Formats: sequence, structure tokens, C-alpha cells
Amino acid sequence: MYFYGTFPEDFTWGVSSSAHQIEGGWDADGKGPSIWDNFTHVPGNVNNNDTGDIACDSYNKVEEDIYMLRALGVKNYRFSLSWPRIFPTGRNNSINSYGVAYYNRLIDGLIANNITPIVTLYHWDLPQALQDIGGWESNELIDLFDSFADFCFQTFGDRVKFWITINEPNVISRLGYGNGLFPPNVKEPGSAPYRVAHILLKAHARVYHTYDDKYRASQGGVIALCPFISWAEPKTPSDPRDIEAADRYLQFLVGWFTHPIFKNGDYPEVMKWKVGNRSELQNLPSSRLPVFTAEEREYIRGTADVFCFNTYSAKIVSHSTTRLRPFSYEYDQEVSVTVDSSWPSSALSDHRPVAWGLRRVLNWIKEEYGNPPIYIIENGVGKKAKSDIDDNARIFYYKTYIDEALKAYKVDGVNLKGYNAWSLMDNFEWVDGYDPRFGLHQIDFDNPNRPRTPKRSAVYYAEIIRNNGRAHLHHHQL
Ligand code: GAL
Repeated sequence: MYFYGTFPEDFTWGVSSSAHQIEGGWDADGKGPSIWDNFTHVPGNVNNNDTGDIACDSYNKVEEDIYMLRALGVKNYRFSLSWPRIFPTGRNNSINSYGVAYYNRLIDGLIANNITPIVTLYHWDLPQALQDIGGWESNELIDLFDSFADFCFQTFGDRVKFWITINEPNVISRLGYGNGLFPPNVKEPGSAPYRVAHILLKAHARVYHTYDDKYRASQGGVIALCPFISWAEPKTPSDPRDIEAADRYLQFLVGWFTHPIFKNGDYPEVMKWKVGNRSELQNLPSSRLPVFTAEEREYIRGTADVFCFNTYSAKIVSHSTTRLRPFSYEYDQEVSVTVDSSWPSSALSDHRPVAWGLRRVLNWIKEEYGNPPIYIIENGVGKKAKSDIDDNARIFYYKTYIDEALKAYKVDGVNLKGYNAWSLMDNFEWVDGYDPRFGLHQIDFDNPNRPRTPKRSAVYYAEIIRNNGRAHLHHHQL
């Protein structure tokens, strides 16, 4: 059932992207290599051996990108800063003025067109030089990330008032250090993700405090982190064990980061209990889940001004009926759940649309964290097709997801402040290369000029924005 209504006047509509996925210019003007540059240069790592070397060539197309944003009528544009474009070696003794100039051009162009920048400091493209000293497994990264963030606040913060520290720290931890799908390709699911998450949380908190101490008073912005969330629907909603399993799934997926930040500075009880117990069964001297000191808990608690998240699909979860295997680090064993296979678990492609899951996730955040202001930072659907200009499936996706967001806001009283579509245009979809495509605009990757063409979904989304959420679907559109 559709709900008809509109969002409040100050609701912010936008589209999202990230540096490595669109910029190209991977070694232009002194940019240093990132872990993704090097990873994609090894044949066999990425679907079709695609790379982000040129991508959408956004490094050379500020005007073209702003033109698309204007045509959509967005109020904000969420993009990320490439750390190695600004600090080629990752450190602030190697500032690349061309990189700084690029982001200044982009930010100035946005402001001139009344488009609010939402800027992610870290969307996965770590400077290789910092991976060489241990990457996110090293505590040194806390200082180094802080020094990069400090430079960005100082340089861009007069115009940027909305900062995201880390995009999907939960995905970085699990895909970079658990199954090893993403660089740095560490496959230690039982321990490395927890150790890395511990450091990411501290790095996030440090950057938040730097903003608080040095910049907030003069710049007056907001700062948050942005986890990935899939709604977990209990398989049998009348079975309390499934309800618990679904909640446990969410705690391991997202509470991992948001419980410390939005609650008490510490991991969810169920995580401490489960991982601790299983570690004991394995005769380990201590839990594989690291422990925060009281001081660290105090330091981490409250380090987000708003609740940002990305979401694409949902999962069906039930309590685990398989016999406990304490030495298996398979996710379902660690969390003691069974994740229904009818909704594919592939992290990257084939995001099955489950629009009502968005309403439930919004209500879960509201209940769990005391009705914080919420921003949906990424939401969209990928399609495997070279050209999908007539992307009715994407229109349907946006229509239904936005309608569920509207219900959450209007009917359920969720404090929803903004919605961003992923993505402004087709782009480099990590290990999937240029297939599937998530864009509202099509990019012709065979053409060196990388022409941008609006899909029907772009026209549709522009209409949603114009009508502040009310979607007038005409017969000829579907
Ligand atoms: C998110 C990620 C984006 C984009 C999207 C589509 O996890 O933040 O960079 O790739 O998925 O799969």
C-alpha cells in the first residue's frame, strides 16, 4: 500500500558517490597509490579485470558532474575525499596542492549552485604507504587519520558542514579482514575484524574530538560515521528465538559500531557474551573481542551528531539449529543464526529489493538509539546490464523505498532528515568492476569522454525531489 504525503520542508535530498569509484586520475598530478589502485592492477582480482584508473573521469569533469546534480535538483551531494590524492604518502608532510585544488573546485562549484556538500573522509582508498606500515591493524593509523581529517577540516571546513568519518567500517572490517574479498585481503574472520573495528572506532572518536575541540565553534558542522545495515527479519515472527536471532544479527552487524557510539562506549552485551563464550570454548586466554578501558568508553560514547547509514536490502534470519561448532568462524556460527539463502548474501551485487525492510530498520534505529536524527546516506539498486536507460526496475525500487521511508517519518515518527540515492552515476563497483550499475546516469565506459546520460530513474528522482517525496507516477512511466 502506498502512503501519500510529503517530507518536511527542510528534508535534504541528495545523491552519493565515492572518490575511488568515480574520479579516475589514479596517478594524476602527484596522487599517491591507494590499496584499491594496487589491488585492481593485479589481473584476476576484479571482475573483467576492470580498474578505477579512469572510472568516470570525475577528476577532470567537475563541471559535468555539477551539471547532473543541478539537473536532478538535489539539495546535497555526498562524495568522498581521496586521502592519497591529498596526502600521497598518507602523511601531512606530503601535501598535494593539485588534489586540494580539485576538491576546492568541486566544493566551490557545489556552493555556487546551492548544493550542500556531505563529505566522507574515508571511503576505503587507503594510501598504500599506510598499508605498508600495517594499515588499520596498526594503532598508528589513529594519529595518521586524525592528522588527515584535521587538515581537511582546516582546508574545507569553512564550506563543508557535514562530515562522515568512515564509510561502512563494518564492511571494511569483515570484507577487508574477514573473508578477505577487499584489500588488504586478510582472511582471519575470527579475530582480525574485531581488532580492526576496535582501531576504526578509536580513529573515528579521535577525529570527532578534533572537530569538537578545534573546529566546531567556528565552523558549526555535524560529524558522524556511516555503517552499512541490512534489515534482519525474523523468519518466524511469532517465535521469540527468531526475534532474538534477528536482533543479534543486527547487533553483530551494526551495533558493533553504533552501540559504543550511541549508547555506552562499549560493544553490545550479546556480542561480548557470544564472542567471549566461544573464545572460552576454544581455550583462548581472552576474548577475541577486544576490551575498551573505562577511559576509552568515555572517549567513544557520544561521538556522532546524527545517525547516518547505507542500506540496500534485507535478510531473513532465524535462530541456529545446527550444532554449535566452536572452532568455525562462519558468520552463522559466530552469531548463532541461520541466514535464509533465498535472499542472496552477496555483499556486492543482486540487492534484492525489500522496501518494507527500510521502514523496519528506521524504526529499529529509533527504538534502539532513542530517536536520533537519521540520514539515509546510500540507497539504490544495481543492475547487470551495459545500458539500462529505461530502468523501470530502478524507478520501482526508489518509489517503494522512498514511500516506506515516508511511512516511517509520517506514521511512525522516525526523525528522518535526509535521503541520498546511490548513485549519481554508474561507477566502479569494487570487485564487481563496472557491472552491475547503480547510476541514475549512465556512463559510456567505452568512450574516452565518458559521456553522462540521464536514465529514466534520474527524471523520476528529480520529480520526487521537486515534490518533496510525493511520487506522481504517470501511466507512461511504468
Ligand atoms: C556500498 C558502498 C558503496 C557502493 C554500494 C553499492 O556498500 O558504500 O561504495 O559500492 O555499496 O554496492
